[in-house]
Amino acid sequence: MMGQFENLLFEKDNGIGMITINRPKALNALNGATLSELDALCDQLAKDNSVKVVIVTGSGEKAFIAGADITEMQPMSAVEGRNWGKFGQAVFNKLENLPQPVIAAVNGFALGGGCELAMACDIRIASEKAKFGQPEVTLGITPGFGGTQRLPRLVGKGRAKELLYTGDMIDAAEAYRIGLVNKVVPPEELLTVAKGMAAKILSRAAVAVQLCKAAVNEGMDMDLDSGVAYEAEVFGLCFATADQKEGMTAFTEKRKANFTGK
Ligand code: HXC
Repeated sequence: MMGQFENLLFEKDNGIGMITINRPKALNALNGATLSELDALCDQLAKDNSVKVVIVTGSGEKAFIAGADITEMQPMSAVEGRNWGKFGQAVFNKLENLPQPVIAAVNGFALGGGCELAMACDIRIASEKAKFGQPEVTLGITPGFGGTQRLPRLVGKGRAKELLYTGDMIDAAEAYRIGLVNKVVPPEELLTVAKGMAAKILSRAAVAVQLCKAAVNEGMDMDLDSGVAYEAEVFGLCFATADQKEGMTAFTEKRKANFTGK
Protein backbone atom coordinates (compact mmCIF):
# COMPACT_ATOMS: atom_id res chain seq x y z
CA MET A 1 0.00 0.00 0.00
CA MET A 2 1.79 3.08 1.34
CA GLY A 3 3.88 5.40 -0.81
CA GLN A 4 7.48 6.12 -0.01
CA PHE A 5 8.19 8.65 2.68
CA GLU A 6 11.39 10.52 3.28
CA ASN A 7 11.13 11.02 7.03
CA LEU A 8 8.93 8.10 8.06
CA LEU A 9 9.20 4.36 7.76
CA PHE A 10 6.02 2.38 7.55
CA GLU A 11 5.58 -1.36 7.56
CA LYS A 12 2.61 -3.62 7.91
CA ASP A 13 2.82 -7.02 9.53
CA ASN A 14 -0.14 -9.21 10.43
CA GLY A 15 -2.53 -6.36 11.05
CA ILE A 16 0.00 -4.19 12.90
CA GLY A 17 1.08 -0.95 11.22
CA MET A 18 4.46 0.25 12.46
CA ILE A 19 5.31 3.94 11.98
CA THR A 20 8.92 4.95 12.67
CA ILE A 21 9.74 8.66 12.73
CA ASN A 22 13.02 8.62 10.87
CA ARG A 23 15.19 11.75 11.10
CA PRO A 24 17.83 10.40 13.47
CA LYS A 25 20.32 13.17 12.63
CA ALA A 26 17.93 15.69 14.24
CA LEU A 27 16.75 13.25 16.94
CA ASN A 28 13.58 12.73 14.88
CA ALA A 29 12.52 16.36 15.31
CA LEU A 30 9.27 17.09 13.50
CA ASN A 31 9.82 19.46 10.60
CA GLY A 32 7.10 20.49 8.18
CA ALA A 33 7.94 17.70 5.74
CA THR A 34 7.71 15.02 8.45
CA LEU A 35 4.38 16.32 9.74
CA SER A 36 3.00 16.44 6.19
CA GLU A 37 4.04 12.83 5.66
CA LEU A 38 2.44 11.81 8.95
CA ASP A 39 -0.72 13.62 7.89
CA ALA A 40 -0.80 11.71 4.58
CA LEU A 41 -0.06 8.41 6.32
CA CYS A 42 -2.92 8.97 8.78
CA ASP A 43 -5.29 9.57 5.85
CA GLN A 44 -4.18 6.28 4.32
CA LEU A 45 -4.44 4.38 7.61
CA ALA A 46 -7.96 5.68 8.29
CA LYS A 47 -9.06 3.88 5.11
CA ASP A 48 -6.96 0.74 5.54
CA ASN A 49 -9.00 -2.06 7.08
CA SER A 50 -6.03 -4.40 6.97
CA VAL A 51 -4.29 -2.40 9.72
CA LYS A 52 -5.97 -3.10 13.06
CA VAL A 53 -3.48 -1.57 15.48
CA VAL A 54 -0.81 1.09 14.92
CA ILE A 55 2.51 1.47 16.77
CA VAL A 56 4.54 4.70 16.60
CA THR A 57 8.22 4.76 17.53
CA GLY A 58 11.37 6.75 16.78
CA SER A 59 14.41 5.58 14.86
CA GLY A 60 17.80 5.26 16.50
CA GLU A 61 18.86 4.62 20.06
CA LYS A 62 18.44 8.05 21.48
CA ALA A 63 15.16 9.71 20.65
CA PHE A 64 11.49 9.08 20.16
CA ILE A 65 11.00 12.67 18.94
CA ALA A 66 13.03 15.59 20.36
CA GLY A 67 10.27 18.06 19.54
CA ALA A 68 9.19 20.23 16.68
CA ASP A 69 12.16 21.30 14.54
CA ILE A 70 13.58 24.37 16.28
CA THR A 71 15.60 25.52 13.26
CA GLU A 72 12.39 25.70 11.21
CA MET A 73 10.47 27.57 13.93
CA GLN A 74 13.25 30.03 14.77
CA PRO A 75 12.43 32.62 12.03
CA MET A 76 8.62 32.32 12.19
CA SER A 77 6.32 35.33 12.48
CA ALA A 78 3.31 35.31 14.81
CA VAL A 79 0.99 34.32 11.99
CA GLU A 80 3.33 31.58 10.77
CA GLY A 81 3.65 30.26 14.33
CA ARG A 82 -0.10 30.13 14.72
CA ASN A 83 -0.51 28.31 11.40
CA TRP A 84 2.27 25.86 12.27
CA GLY A 85 0.60 25.12 15.59
CA LYS A 86 -2.76 24.62 13.93
CA PHE A 87 -1.27 22.29 11.36
CA GLY A 88 0.41 20.12 14.01
CA GLN A 89 -2.74 20.11 16.10
CA ALA A 90 -4.76 18.92 13.09
CA VAL A 91 -2.28 16.11 12.36
CA PHE A 92 -2.25 14.98 16.01
CA ASN A 93 -6.07 15.12 16.16
CA LYS A 94 -6.11 12.90 13.09
CA LEU A 95 -3.71 10.46 14.75
CA GLU A 96 -5.74 10.50 17.98
CA ASN A 97 -8.94 9.81 16.09
CA LEU A 98 -7.71 7.07 13.78
CA PRO A 99 -10.20 4.21 13.97
CA GLN A 100 -7.37 1.88 15.04
CA PRO A 101 -5.82 1.92 18.52
CA VAL A 102 -2.42 3.62 18.45
CA ILE A 103 0.40 2.63 20.81
CA ALA A 104 3.40 4.93 21.30
CA ALA A 105 6.58 2.90 21.89
CA VAL A 106 8.69 5.66 23.41
CA ASN A 107 12.32 4.66 22.90
CA GLY A 108 14.10 7.83 24.05
CA PHE A 109 13.61 11.61 24.28
CA ALA A 110 9.94 12.59 23.94
CA LEU A 111 10.18 16.35 24.29
CA GLY A 112 7.88 19.17 23.26
CA GLY A 113 6.08 18.05 20.11
CA GLY A 114 7.40 14.53 20.79
CA CYS A 115 5.69 14.32 24.16
CA GLU A 116 2.63 15.86 22.53
CA LEU A 117 2.62 13.20 19.82
CA ALA A 118 2.93 10.44 22.42
CA MET A 119 -0.02 11.94 24.28
CA ALA A 120 -2.13 11.89 21.11
CA CYS A 121 -1.65 8.10 21.04
CA ASP A 122 -4.05 5.85 22.96
CA ILE A 123 -1.43 4.02 25.01
CA ARG A 124 2.19 4.84 25.87
CA ILE A 125 4.84 2.22 26.58
CA ALA A 126 8.21 3.68 27.59
CA SER A 127 11.71 2.30 27.48
CA GLU A 128 13.61 2.74 30.74
CA LYS A 129 15.76 5.18 28.73
CA ALA A 130 12.85 7.42 27.71
CA LYS A 131 12.69 11.01 28.92
CA PHE A 132 9.65 13.23 28.78
CA GLY A 133 9.17 16.96 28.99
CA GLN A 134 7.59 20.10 27.63
CA PRO A 135 10.67 22.37 27.43
CA GLU A 136 8.91 25.06 25.34
CA VAL A 137 9.23 27.80 27.99
CA THR A 138 13.01 27.40 27.78
CA LEU A 139 12.66 28.51 24.13
CA GLY A 140 10.24 31.37 24.72
CA ILE A 141 7.12 29.58 23.52
CA THR A 142 4.21 27.55 24.87
CA PRO A 143 3.52 24.03 23.69
CA GLY A 144 1.57 24.29 20.46
CA PHE A 145 0.61 20.78 19.37
CA GLY A 146 -1.92 20.15 22.15
CA GLY A 147 0.41 19.85 25.15
CA THR A 148 -1.34 22.41 27.33
CA GLN A 149 -4.57 20.45 26.83
CA ARG A 150 -3.64 16.76 26.72
CA LEU A 151 -1.04 16.86 29.52
CA PRO A 152 -3.47 18.08 32.25
CA ARG A 153 -6.09 15.64 30.99
CA LEU A 154 -3.60 12.80 31.43
CA VAL A 155 -1.74 13.70 34.63
CA GLY A 156 -3.95 16.36 36.28
CA LYS A 157 -3.65 20.13 36.35
CA GLY A 158 -1.07 20.49 39.12
CA ARG A 159 1.47 18.06 37.72
CA ALA A 160 0.93 19.36 34.20
CA LYS A 161 1.51 22.94 35.25
CA GLU A 162 4.74 22.01 37.05
CA LEU A 163 6.08 20.35 33.88
CA LEU A 164 4.86 23.22 31.67
CA TYR A 165 6.22 26.04 33.86
CA THR A 166 9.60 24.49 34.71
CA GLY A 167 10.32 22.82 31.38
CA ASP A 168 11.88 20.01 33.43
CA MET A 169 12.58 16.63 31.90
CA ILE A 170 11.36 13.55 33.77
CA ASP A 171 12.53 9.99 33.41
CA ALA A 172 10.35 7.02 32.51
CA ALA A 173 9.83 5.94 36.14
CA GLU A 174 8.50 9.38 37.04
CA ALA A 175 6.36 9.46 33.89
CA TYR A 176 4.88 6.15 35.01
CA ARG A 177 4.34 7.41 38.55
CA ILE A 178 2.30 10.39 37.37
CA GLY A 179 0.30 8.39 34.83
CA LEU A 180 1.91 9.78 31.70
CA VAL A 181 2.87 6.28 30.51
CA ASN A 182 1.16 2.91 30.88
CA LYS A 183 4.29 0.86 31.46
CA VAL A 184 8.06 0.99 31.49
CA VAL A 185 10.18 -1.80 30.02
CA PRO A 186 13.87 -2.45 29.33
CA PRO A 187 14.93 -0.82 26.03
CA GLU A 188 15.58 -4.14 24.31
CA GLU A 189 12.05 -5.32 25.11
CA LEU A 190 10.21 -2.18 24.02
CA LEU A 191 9.07 -3.24 20.57
CA THR A 192 8.35 -6.81 21.66
CA VAL A 193 6.11 -5.57 24.46
CA ALA A 194 4.39 -3.05 22.16
CA LYS A 195 3.83 -5.72 19.51
CA GLY A 196 2.61 -8.16 22.16
CA MET A 197 0.04 -5.66 23.37
CA ALA A 198 -0.95 -4.93 19.77
CA ALA A 199 -1.35 -8.67 19.12
CA LYS A 200 -3.56 -9.05 22.18
CA ILE A 201 -5.78 -6.15 21.05
CA LEU A 202 -5.83 -7.70 17.56
CA SER A 203 -7.15 -10.94 18.97
CA ARG A 204 -10.22 -9.15 20.36
CA ALA A 205 -13.40 -8.19 18.50
CA ALA A 206 -12.16 -5.40 16.22
CA VAL A 207 -15.41 -3.46 15.92
CA ALA A 208 -15.86 -3.52 19.70
CA VAL A 209 -12.28 -2.27 20.18
CA GLN A 210 -12.82 0.57 17.71
CA LEU A 211 -16.10 1.50 19.38
CA CYS A 212 -14.38 1.54 22.81
CA LYS A 213 -11.93 4.03 21.35
CA ALA A 214 -14.68 6.19 19.88
CA ALA A 215 -16.67 6.11 23.13
CA VAL A 216 -13.67 7.20 25.23
CA ASN A 217 -12.52 9.87 22.76
CA GLU A 218 -15.97 11.33 22.15
CA GLY A 219 -17.17 10.87 25.71
CA MET A 220 -14.21 12.63 27.36
CA ASP A 221 -15.39 15.88 25.77
CA MET A 222 -19.01 15.42 26.92
CA ASP A 223 -20.85 15.67 30.22
CA LEU A 224 -21.46 12.30 31.87
CA ASP A 225 -25.10 11.99 30.77
CA SER A 226 -24.18 12.58 27.12
CA GLY A 227 -21.20 10.26 27.43
CA VAL A 228 -23.18 7.35 28.79
CA ALA A 229 -25.89 8.00 26.16
CA TYR A 230 -23.16 7.74 23.51
CA GLU A 231 -21.98 4.52 25.15
CA ALA A 232 -25.50 3.04 24.93
CA GLU A 233 -25.46 3.69 21.18
CA VAL A 234 -22.09 2.02 20.54
CA PHE A 235 -23.01 -0.83 22.88
CA GLY A 236 -26.17 -1.40 20.86
CA LEU A 237 -24.21 -1.32 17.60
CA CYS A 238 -22.10 -4.27 18.76
CA PHE A 239 -25.19 -6.47 18.56
CA ALA A 240 -25.22 -5.91 14.82
CA THR A 241 -21.80 -7.61 14.53
CA ALA A 242 -20.96 -11.23 13.84
CA ASP A 243 -18.25 -10.99 16.51
CA GLN A 244 -20.85 -10.37 19.24
CA LYS A 245 -22.69 -13.53 18.19
CA GLU A 246 -19.42 -15.44 18.05
CA GLY A 247 -18.06 -14.06 21.32
CA MET A 248 -21.12 -14.93 23.34
CA THR A 249 -21.73 -18.25 21.60
CA ALA A 250 -18.12 -19.25 22.26
CA PHE A 251 -18.56 -18.39 25.92
CA THR A 252 -21.67 -20.52 26.27
CA GLU A 253 -19.95 -23.36 24.38
CA LYS A 254 -16.88 -23.02 26.64
CA ARG A 255 -14.48 -22.47 23.76
CA LYS A 256 -12.25 -19.66 22.56
CA ALA A 257 -13.93 -17.10 20.32
CA ASN A 258 -12.92 -17.01 16.70
CA PHE A 259 -13.35 -13.39 15.74
CA THR A 260 -13.51 -12.23 12.13
CA GLY A 261 -13.62 -8.48 12.71
CA LYS A 262 -17.11 -8.33 11.20
C1 HXC B 1 15.88 20.63 15.63
C2 HXC B 1 17.11 19.23 16.96
C3 HXC B 1 16.09 19.18 17.91
C4 HXC B 1 14.89 19.91 17.64
C5 HXC B 1 17.71 17.97 18.62
N1 HXC B 1 18.10 18.47 17.44
N2 HXC B 1 16.49 18.40 18.93
N3 HXC B 1 17.01 19.95 15.83
N4 HXC B 1 14.86 20.64 16.48
N5 HXC B 1 13.85 19.91 18.45
C6 HXC B 1 19.37 18.24 16.76
C7 HXC B 1 20.50 19.00 17.42
O1 HXC B 1 20.52 20.34 16.98
C8 HXC B 1 21.71 18.23 16.94
O2 HXC B 1 21.98 18.60 15.60
C9 HXC B 1 21.20 16.80 16.92
O3 HXC B 1 19.76 16.88 16.86
C10 HXC B 1 21.61 16.03 18.15
O4 HXC B 1 21.20 16.75 19.28
P1 HXC B 1 22.19 17.20 20.46
O5 HXC B 1 21.61 18.39 21.10
O6 HXC B 1 23.57 17.31 19.96
O7 HXC B 1 22.10 15.94 21.43
P2 HXC B 1 22.27 15.91 23.02
O8 HXC B 1 23.38 16.83 23.44
O9 HXC B 1 22.34 14.48 23.41
O10 HXC B 1 20.91 16.54 23.60
C11 HXC B 1 19.70 15.88 23.36
C12 HXC B 1 18.54 16.83 23.71
C13 HXC B 1 18.74 18.17 22.97
C14 HXC B 1 18.52 17.07 25.23
C15 HXC B 1 17.23 16.14 23.31
O11 HXC B 1 18.93 17.90 21.58
C16 HXC B 1 17.60 19.12 23.08
O12 HXC B 1 17.40 19.79 24.10
N6 HXC B 1 16.81 19.27 21.98
C17 HXC B 1 15.72 20.20 21.93
C18 HXC B 1 14.57 19.70 22.73
C19 HXC B 1 13.41 20.70 22.75
O13 HXC B 1 13.57 21.84 23.20
N7 HXC B 1 12.29 20.29 22.19
C20 HXC B 1 11.09 21.15 22.13
C21 HXC B 1 11.09 21.90 20.84
S1 HXC B 1 9.74 23.01 20.81
P3 HXC B 1 23.47 18.90 15.11
O14 HXC B 1 23.28 19.32 13.66
O15 HXC B 1 24.04 19.94 15.99
O16 HXC B 1 24.15 17.56 15.25
C22 HXC B 1 8.42 22.09 20.37
C23 HXC B 1 7.14 22.87 20.22
C24 HXC B 1 6.04 22.02 19.63
O17 HXC B 1 8.48 20.93 20.23
C25 HXC B 1 4.85 22.86 19.26
C26 HXC B 1 5.07 23.74 18.10
C27 HXC B 1 3.83 24.50 17.70
